[in-house]
Amino acid sequence: MKILNFGSLNIDYTYDVEHFVQGGETISSLRLQSFAGGKGLNQSVAAGRSGASVWHAGAVGASDGEFLVDLLKSSGVHTEYIARVPGPSGHAIIQRDPEGQNCIVLYGGANQTIRAEQAEEVMKNFTSGDWLILQNEISAVGEIMERAHARGLKIALNPSPMNDKIRSYPLTYVDLLILNEVEAAAICPQAKDDSEQLLQNLRKDFPSCSIVLTLGKQGAWYSSKEKQFFQKAFSVDTVDTTGAGDTFTGFLIGALARGVTEEQAMQEAAAASAIAVSREGAAVSIPTYLEVKHFLQQDFKC
Ligand code: RIB
Repeated sequence: MKILNFGSLNIDYTYDVEHFVQGGETISSLRLQSFAGGKGLNQSVAAGRSGASVWHAGAVGASDGEFLVDLLKSSGVHTEYIARVPGPSGHAIIQRDPEGQNCIVLYGGANQTIRAEQAEEVMKNFTSGDWLILQNEISAVGEIMERAHARGLKIALNPSPMNDKIRSYPLTYVDLLILNEVEAAAICPQAKDDSEQLLQNLRKDFPSCSIVLTLGKQGAWYSSKEKQFFQKAFSVDTVDTTGAGDTFTGFLIGALARGVTEEQAMQEAAAASAIAVSREGAAVSIPTYLEVKHFLQQDFKC
């Protein structure tokens, strides 16, 4: 089973700050680092390192994006569907506080040059039963979903970052929805504070799709027509949460594409994201499958 990830590729500029800058305030940062990132790239790297067969489609700037493509290649991800376009690659300005939490400003760049025609061409190489992973950092997401559905691909949507465009997408085509509580509350009009209630409301609105509701440090719910269970998060020292959710998503779908049970896939995803938050950066913090296996063999506490 193949995985096609049509997603963003960003250059992340990460600034260490004492606290997040407030409106009208000017602060000095303590350190600047630059990493490969983007929710799409991070998820492809995670799925590739989980051992799945992954193709990344998207666009980078011809003059500044080659190192993003190289990182994907070195993670075992196929890159022939990544276009080089005039103008800059997408980038993210990330503030990281002493607790490893972040806030992010995005510049779309090349990620916003994706058109339906590119989707049409790429989709010819995939078939019924293959997975498509999507986030919300590129243009033409709705058109990509239409074409994938027509070819019988299974669609996994991570509606992040959440914005008004999400409602215009054909959400009934989604087979697996992976989202956090904030995104769930925005997508589900009757959202509630309690996560189980929130999950039930999501189930009513999306009755035929499987749902993974992530709750940060607590863990994540898996809910489908057949089963529902909770995977606790592993407890580790947090260094940088950037890309932890992407690591979870990529490892989860990678494991499902390899054919393991949903329980095992959720456990591997939780372990992978725990390792990622204990390291700096987005894509560079994503572990390999062997590291995840080793982590699970040790006695880490949930
Ligand atoms: O989810 C983390 C990612 O969000 C970062 O790598 C940044 O590029 C933004 O897309």
